[in-house]
Amino acid sequence: MSAPTSSTTDAQTHRELYEDLQHRREEAAKGGGDARIERQHEKDKLTARERLDILLDDGSFEELGTFVRHQETNFDLDENRPYGDGVVTGYGTIHGRLVYVFSQDFTVYGGSLGRAHADKIVNVMEKALENGAPLIGLNDSGGARIQEGVKSLGGYADIFKLNTDASGVIPQISAIMGPCAGGAVYSPAITDFTFMVEDTSYMFVTGPHVVKTVTQEDVTAGELGGARTHATKSGVSHVTCKNDVDCLRRIRDLMSYLPQNCEEDPPRQSRDEVSSALDGEELDALVPEEPNKPYDMRDVIRHIVDKDDFFEIQPDFGENLITGFSRLGGRPIGIVANQPAVLSGTLNIDASVKGARFVRFCDAFNIPLLVFEDVPGFLPGTDQEWNGIIKEGAKLLYAFCEATVPRITVITRKAYGGAYDVMNSKHIGGDLNFAWPTAEVAVMGPKSAVEIIYRDELQEADDPEAAKDEFVEQYREAFATPYVAAEYGYVDDVIKPSETRRRLLRGFDMLENKVVNNPPKKHGNMPL
Ligand code: HXC
Repeated sequence: MSAPTSSTTDAQTHRELYEDLQHRREEAAKGGGDARIERQHEKDKLTARERLDILLDDGSFEELGTFVRHQETNFDLDENRPYGDGVVTGYGTIHGRLVYVFSQDFTVYGGSLGRAHADKIVNVMEKALENGAPLIGLNDSGGARIQEGVKSLGGYADIFKLNTDASGVIPQISAIMGPCAGGAVYSPAITDFTFMVEDTSYMFVTGPHVVKTVTQEDVTAGELGGARTHATKSGVSHVTCKNDVDCLRRIRDLMSYLPQNCEEDPPRQSRDEVSSALDGEELDALVPEEPNKPYDMRDVIRHIVDKDDFFEIQPDFGENLITGFSRLGGRPIGIVANQPAVLSGTLNIDASVKGARFVRFCDAFNIPLLVFEDVPGFLPGTDQEWNGIIKEGAKLLYAFCEATVPRITVITRKAYGGAYDVMNSKHIGGDLNFAWPTAEVAVMGPKSAVEIIYRDELQEADDPEAAKDEFVEQYREAFATPYVAAEYGYVDDVIKPSETRRRLLRGFDMLENKVVNNPPKKHGNMPL
């Protein structure tokens, strides 16, 4: 029998190598195995890879670090070294644009983070920073891998440092799709937006057992740190999602408003493709004639922006201020709006902090700001004062003062007191400030003003109530209009509501090449 030729041997060897590669790939794709995948599905959760399939454009995912394994030999870890080490990492596209991703795999060591797992995340973070593309992290993890001890703590710290380095350079999005506990919560907290899935996700620094031991409180994981809790009470979460699929689709939606990095402009849709806004004529009747009657500022927004185009951020927290992304003629904008339907649209601590963070995000990523203003002032009371409305309110003021993106304000009704200054007034850098004829720009509302400046006259009047009504009317005519502010040039024009969309489209076009440079500094010292 003749010896096989070398080419036949090579061909067989190659086939074996390719088959071996295929087996290894299949093994890696299985994560923690079928039983654990089934358990994940039973909890109404998708696997790490299924999630990436929905998040990214079809077929765009390229995996990095498929065959990474931990190198530990302590405990029984050396007997269980699954490929991937509990996290799937790589890059792909969303709406055709590059993003870097990591997706923790709960079927492998509960998605816990050991050294190799952390190194994989660090690798994509570094690449995202170097290449100026967003980072999206899908979190589903039991936290620090207990068996790896301080190495896993070091891994977390490496991630926190990179999150901080990347802050303001590339957009960073976190989805919480399972447990996220202990110090692990601080990576999402540093990123720009946190999405949470109802019923299957939670975040807390210490869990219910520790809480019970230390404070004797009985609380479930959901009550302590579920999606509802963080959407309504703490403000830690920015978007609440019904399930995994809803969460991943909404992240894709959000990405459509964001640039790749701080040196790019956000992506614009062609103006021709944009379906126009709702009927503007309805707007003329939207603000009630009674000055204290509430109305929903969302209706104002809906009638002005491109049709059905509003991605609200933190809709259930600090509801007296509305924040969100939208488009005007296809151009992404960030909207900050007082909500007269909640707490009369006053600014309180939650609203100020929510607004400040949103304004700073938009400013960092070149997203123009549109402000709708109807604000009777800051919310009074011991609760607000003792919890620091002075420094918390100052955050919103500071954020507007330092913002260099194009900024337009529309005063729909009240612009009173300090809140007038704070809500993107021209004095702090508003570029174009419009007022509707219903606007009242003044130091305070007519009734309060009259009680102070006519105190003596009211005390001496035969009929104090009638005198007060008369003074209120005089004050309203003199001050509670937009025209005094317009005479000083503090508003650029008084416009009809139905003219607003056209004026905004032209205004943002006019401001497109705005360049403002704040004084050079290492960094400011915003009131924290
Ligand atoms: C290693 C872990 C793990 C961890 C879970 N597993 N957490 N392995 N380190 N931290 C493993 C489990 O042993 C199990 O392995 C598998 O993951 C699934 O866990 P289960 O308990 O079966 O799942 P479930 O009932 O859904 O409970 C999930 C859980 C629970 C609530 C997350 O596992 C849990 O409480 N884990 C510990 C959480 C924790 O205290 N982590 C440390 C937080 S402090 P098998 O082989 O059975 O499938 C922290 C500090 C970070 O993270 C500091 C950064 C600065």
